[in-house]
Amino acid sequence: MLVDDPPHILDDLLGLEVAGVGETWRARPDMEPVRTRANRASIIARSRAAEDTLSTSGACQYVLLGAGLDTFAQRHKGPVRVFEIDAPATQAWKRDRLVQLGLLDPARLRLVPVDFEAGESWLAKAVEAGLDPTEPTVVSMLGVTMYLTAEAISTTLRQTASLAAGSIMVFSYSRPIEMAPSEVRSILEGATKGAAASGHPWLSLLTPDQAADLAREAGFADVNVMTSTDLHERYFAHRHDGLSPIGGEDLVIATAGRDRVGPE
Ligand SMILES: C[S@@+](CC[C@H](N)C(=O)[O-])C[C@H]1O[C@@H](n2cnc3c(N)ncnc32)[C@H](O)[C@@H]1O
Repeated sequence: MLVDDPPHILDDLLGLEVAGVGETWRARPDMEPVRTRANRASIIARSRAAEDTLSTSGACQYVLLGAGLDTFAQRHKGPVRVFEIDAPATQAWKRDRLVQLGLLDPARLRLVPVDFEAGESWLAKAVEAGLDPTEPTVVSMLGVTMYLTAEAISTTLRQTASLAAGSIMVFSYSRPIEMAPSEVRSILEGATKGAAASGHPWLSLLTPDQAADLAREAGFADVNVMTSTDLHERYFAHRHDGLSPIGGEDLVIATAGRDRVGPE
């Protein structure tokens, strides 16, 4: 919103406030507006698609796996109960920021610390925190799979597929860099190096077939891939400023169809 012209794909000024970076963000090389355009578009497109899925589903529970600085719970005031699942240290930091800013409403948002790599069940912890696994739920996992091992992705997906029939999971994945259009390859290479240098290396890059197979093997009844080109067509095709997510993350949108419900 502070870089691109309207119409905006996602209205979120709160994220910047929660991040607490002041005006210094504009000087960061990874915020340079033109070179990072595809990455920026990809990030807003994945959130917009997940939030559109939630609003059309009619579900009253929204779980964000690896929520990061997502501000859905603060931006939307409807009846949806929100559960943010995240790595304990990251979430503790965000909790402090939300409290400092007076933005934490425990009636609406539950913060549930879980490390997906530590063998913990996100679902069991969320149920302890008040999630009703018999109610249809939308679960997003955006910008997370690349940081996880294949085993942790599968475990996380299996838990989600055991939710009430009709529950929907939206997760994003990055393709192997050699599959990206040449104009975004250097950005992806930079992001890969940056992630490794920060101690959070990318562990899993997936082809569309591999991502869909993971969802089917986890037990989802219906699995659809929405590529970055599909996201462009849906949200960006009318724009004339070059903002486009093509070459960024794709999404898998998968629907649970099981009778059995609840934590493993
Ligand atoms: C790039 S951020 C994405 C944040 C947000 N979902 C978004 O769409 O912008 C990656 C998130 O994944 C979380 N994450 C990475 N590895 C994790 C793990 N092993 N267990 C739990 N969360 C993890 C990080 O803490 C962070 O919040």
